[in-house]
Amino acid sequence: MNSVGNPAPAPAPRLEIRNLTRSFAGRAVVDDVSLTVAAGQVTCLLGPSGCGKSTTLRMIAGVETPDSGQIVIDGAPVFANGLALPPERRGVGLMFQDFALFPHLTVADNIAFGLTAAREAKARRVDELLERVNLTGFGPKHPHQLSGGEQQRVALARALAPRPRVMLMDEPFSGLDNRLRDGIRDATLEVLKDEGAAVLLVTHEPDEAMRMADEIALMRAGRVVQQGAPYNIYNNPVDRAAAAFFSDINVIRAESRGALTVTPFGEFLTPGHADGAPVEIVIRPQHLKIDFDRAGRGPNPTPMDGTPARGIVQRARFLGRESLVEFRMEFGGLVLTASVPGVFLPKPGTALWLMIRRDRCFVFPA
Ligand SMILES: Nc1ncnc2c1ncn2[C@@H]1O[C@H](COP(=O)(O)OP(=O)(O)OP(=O)(O)O)[C@@H](O)[C@H]1O
Ligand SMILES: [Mg+2]
Repeated sequence: MNSVGNPAPAPAPRLEIRNLTRSFAGRAVVDDVSLTVAAGQVTCLLGPSGCGKSTTLRMIAGVETPDSGQIVIDGAPVFANGLALPPERRGVGLMFQDFALFPHLTVADNIAFGLTAAREAKARRVDELLERVNLTGFGPKHPHQLSGGEQQRVALARALAPRPRVMLMDEPFSGLDNRLRDGIRDATLEVLKDEGAAVLLVTHEPDEAMRMADEIALMRAGRVVQQGAPYNIYNNPVDRAAAAFFSDINVIRAESRGALTVTPFGEFLTPGHADGAPVEIVIRPQHLKIDFDRAGRGPNPTPMDGTPARGIVQRARFLGRESLVEFRMEFGGLVLTASVPGVFLPKPGTALWLMIRRDRCFVFPA
């Protein structure tokens, strides 16, 4: 609050891109993309291969030229209306998948590479970063003496050394061993948060985005189709494809009649869908609830769980953390998959009752 009692104006976003577009051979591979990233915030550009993530990042870095749009850092344009600052004047740090360190330089010299400060200040910054990435004492070593994970941390320190205002990371963990990856992701996140840069991280892995991001920008065919906190993107997907990007899904096809849809699980409200319009009710496997058969009867309907429906187990598989059980529903022959934490392996042919949590269903036009 300031002296007159008005709330202070929101600080300008660290990075703002507006209506960025880039075509190759007449095809827009980045199509009117706008987003903002605040200082200290991690935004993940998430999407399938070829959707334009790297091209977006390269335009912000200044190594690819947009056809149109604007890029603004701390309120000052770095690309707009004929202005195009070269990469080194944008205050941007880069880290790519092949984070190639300079093999002939020591770890310390790799980290100091982009620093212009006096010798002593440089050495201080290098030591500070080595400590931050847990590599104190590694300064005199050469890259070939380091493991993949250690090299990744040196590359992170190198990118952060000049204190970039914006950090651009393109699949920086994809070259790492699976078992190392989670630990390195968490450690990297901690360092990034400490340094306070605005981070735009490209990934095609939903798990990685969920783990790292304050905000996810979901891209498809050159466009950002949804942007928000991981919780919101997961629980309120804009469409079926957005839901399916994060987990397997079950789809119940039906028709809307008088703003209602009849399914094996009772009636669903489908306001806003025309009479006779085909709709899809989407539910993730972990939101199907299972109950036992009591001589042909299931549990009583509840407002939250709706009407139970009986299904026959087709197949059950144990995946370690969870079991997947496939059902053929008695009503309509629909096939649904439920996931259950731990071990749950009912025999094929067993009759069980399923309920779908109303608040976890998404209704989309088909
Ligand atoms: N210099 C170029 N010339 C022609 N086409 C290009 C060029 N750069 C990228 N493309 C095309 O633009 C599309 C988007 O590429 P981009 O590298 O941005 O995808 P991506 O989302 O990063 O994919 P991935 O997850 O596979 O890395 C692709 O179809 C690609 O072939
Ligand atoms: Mg890419």
